Amino acid sequence: MKNTVLITGCSSGFGKLAAKKFQSEGWNVIATMRSPEKEAELNKLDNVLVTALDVTSNESVKNAVSVGLERFGRIDALINNAGYGGHSFLEQFTEEQIYAMFETNVFGVMRVCREVLPYMRKQKSGTVINVTSMAGYMGLTLTSTYSASKWAVEGLTESMAMEYKPFGIKVKAVAPGAFGTNFVSASDNNFEGGDEEIRESSEKIGAHFLTVVEQMQNQSGKVADPQEVAEKIFECVITDAPVHNIVGADAEMLKTMMDSMPRQQFIDTLEDLLLPKN
Ligand SMILES: NC(=O)c1ccc[n+]([C@@H]2O[C@H](COP(=O)([O-])OP(=O)(O)OC[C@H]3O[C@@H](n4cnc5c(N)ncnc54)[C@H](OP(=O)(O)O)[C@@H]3O)[C@@H](O)[C@H]2O)c1
Repeated sequence: MKNTVLITGCSSGFGKLAAKKFQSEGWNVIATMRSPEKEAELNKLDNVLVTALDVTSNESVKNAVSVGLERFGRIDALINNAGYGGHSFLEQFTEEQIYAMFETNVFGVMRVCREVLPYMRKQKSGTVINVTSMAGYMGLTLTSTYSASKWAVEGLTESMAMEYKPFGIKVKAVAPGAFGTNFVSASDNNFEGGDEEIRESSEKIGAHFLTVVEQMQNQSGKVADPQEVAEKIFECVITDAPVHNIVGADAEMLKTMMDSMPRQQFIDTLEDLLLPKN
């Protein structure tokens, strides 16, 4: 019997590329997205079921899992990829924006896991991959809310890996660096929020952050290709990859730096890099 993967957030970026990767490797793919009626590519591929799934809705999650199981009979891998960013000072976001980000990036992951895990337990096998971020390993400027959401999922992943090991279920995280998907345009920033001091500061820090990311990517001499993330996700499903996985030259560079020095020294180094000098 063919393996089946369910992936969230397949309308673009890593999710769409992962759907194509699994399909090309002979897997059945339940490619889920919020607006399947807009999809024109994945539904033309053999063994791909494009179906609606909004990670913020219990009903939508239940329905997608049930439709997927009806079509393919099992789910061997679950890729929790749906998510979005938001860059602003903590004070700039409205409370609704903060809750909404957690609803998708954290509770959305839990919701889909809770629906799929009982079937994986019945199968006595399965792999869950949670797509996090390098912002889930370290504090960066203007990412406090996003970082908190991705750290939450890194912690969730590590605990779940232990909890579900006795059931034959593997749980791992893939943490990408910066890649040119729709991520930046889809980000829910609020640079207009907060008082004048915060607004001025966020503009300055934001511009500096982009320069640093660009410099790091140039230094590595590699263009960040989102396909790399799709390949990493697939590799983590089919191999004995560890619980925590990093992907992207910038993320690898930062992680190497992080591992090479005491934590406070790393935080001081990042501050030096990310806070503009004037
Ligand atoms: N690109 C990067 O630099 C980067 C770095 C680190 C981590 N990540 C993480 O990687 C994951 C994928 O992002 P990406 O870079 O591929 O960006 P992307 O192209 O914007 O894709 C994000 C996907 O998530 C979906 N999504 C958002 N909210 C959803 C919801 N409530 N229910 C279901 N789907 C939802 C989007 O669907 P719609 O089309 O309906 O909006 C889209 O398909 C995210 O978790 C992101 O945090 C990205």
